[in-house]
Amino acid sequence: MPRALTLQVNGRATKVETDDPDMPLLYALRDGLGLHGPKFGCGLGQCGACTVLIDGEAVRSCVTPLSAVAAKAKITTLEGLSKDGKPSALQQAFIDEQAAQCGYCINGMIMQSAALLRTNKKPDEAAIRQALANNLCRCGTHVRIVRAVQRATS
Ligand code: FES
Repeated sequence: MPRALTLQVNGRATKVETDDPDMPLLYALRDGLGLHGPKFGCGLGQCGACTVLIDGEAVRSCVTPLSAVAAKAKITTLEGLSKDGKPSALQQAFIDEQAAQCGYCINGMIMQSAALLRTNKKPDEAAIRQALANNLCRCGTHVRIVRAVQRATS
C-alpha cells in the first residue's frame, strides 16, 4: 500500500506517495514532483548530473534513499536557486559564459558550485576545479564552467 512521505523541497513541504520508501530521491523529485533540474545520468553516484543540495551540502540524489531525507532535510533543486522566475547570480553566470554545450551535466555543475560557494565565497581556480572534479562533462566544456563560477564570484 502506498505511503505518503513529506519532503521539504525548495522551501515547501510536499507529499510524495510511494510503495518504496527506499527508492532514490531523484525519482521522487523528477517523477513525483515534476522537478527536472536533477538529471538521471549514471544512476550510480558517479557523474553528478543528479546533484541537489541537502541541508546545503551537494548530494547525489540517484543514490540517496527517499526515507533518508523525508520530513526534516531541506532539499534544494536547481529550480530552488532562482527567485521570482529570475536566475540566481550563479545561474546567470553559467548563461553569460555559455557554459553548456549539450547541457546535460550543467544542472549538476551548478548545484555542486552552489554548495562550494556556500562555504567559500571567493574560491580560486584550483578550489573550483577540485569541487567539480567528480562532476563529469562529456562535451569537455570545463573551461567555460570554471569561468562561469569565477564570474559568479567577481
Ligand atoms: Fe546520480 Fe550520475 S545520475 S551521479
